[in-house]
Amino acid sequence: MKKIRIAIDGPAGSGKSSVSKMVATELDYRYVDTGALYRVVAFLLSEKGGTPQDEPLLREILSDISIDYKMEEGVNHIIANGRDVTAFIRTNEVSMLASTVSAIPFVRFALLGIQRAFAMEEGVVMEGRDIGTVIMPSAELKIFLIADVELRAERRRKELASRGKTPPSLAEMVEDIKQRDHQDSTRKVAPLKQADDAILLNNSHLNLVQTAKSIVKYAHERSE
Ligand code: DC
Repeated sequence: MKKIRIAIDGPAGSGKSSVSKMVATELDYRYVDTGALYRVVAFLLSEKGGTPQDEPLLREILSDISIDYKMEEGVNHIIANGRDVTAFIRTNEVSMLASTVSAIPFVRFALLGIQRAFAMEEGVVMEGRDIGTVIMPSAELKIFLIADVELRAERRRKELASRGKTPPSLAEMVEDIKQRDHQDSTRKVAPLKQADDAILLNNSHLNLVQTAKSIVKYAHERSE
């Protein structure tokens, strides 16, 4: 069976990361979380006390950035400039800032090379917002994963709580997610958008295993 490339895109909290990780494990493919790249840039920017308007600082951060992934016991560790930043990049603040910096064209351009290198590999599950449209337009399988906004907000709250963080109220989380959806889908460069040849999968009423199973089934069909 030949190895294929799988693009999984969708809005915040649609389950992309958990589902993609499970699909990659099942197929023994490499898992690439592209949102982590924007999160690292956002985290480094806030750590230096900068704002998205601070172009020289952003360019300096991007000029010598190195980002690696290290899978350890099911946890995808993100290593930025040799430092494990996994614990710092999933806060609500970094999520919003990542969405804002990801709308800046030179930021997206600077992160293209890293992503295109992964896109050359066979046997990859890459997830993000523009994977099926920009990063891997020739992927053999493209999934656009969606779910109701309240469910997505609840999932994010649980995820934050599981990491010992106090999550915002459900209403606040719904507003944050809506704002991020709006920013991500209305930006000029590579907005969140379903590719014409992507399969739309609504997982509002499916659990993680059911969602991953249906994607693995499509993958088997496409790799015959
Ligand atoms: O998937 P995530 O929540 O970790 O992504 C964080 C932000 O990064 C998201 O709000 C938009 C941006 N992003 C992007 O613009 N393009 C991608 N391929 C992945 C993420």
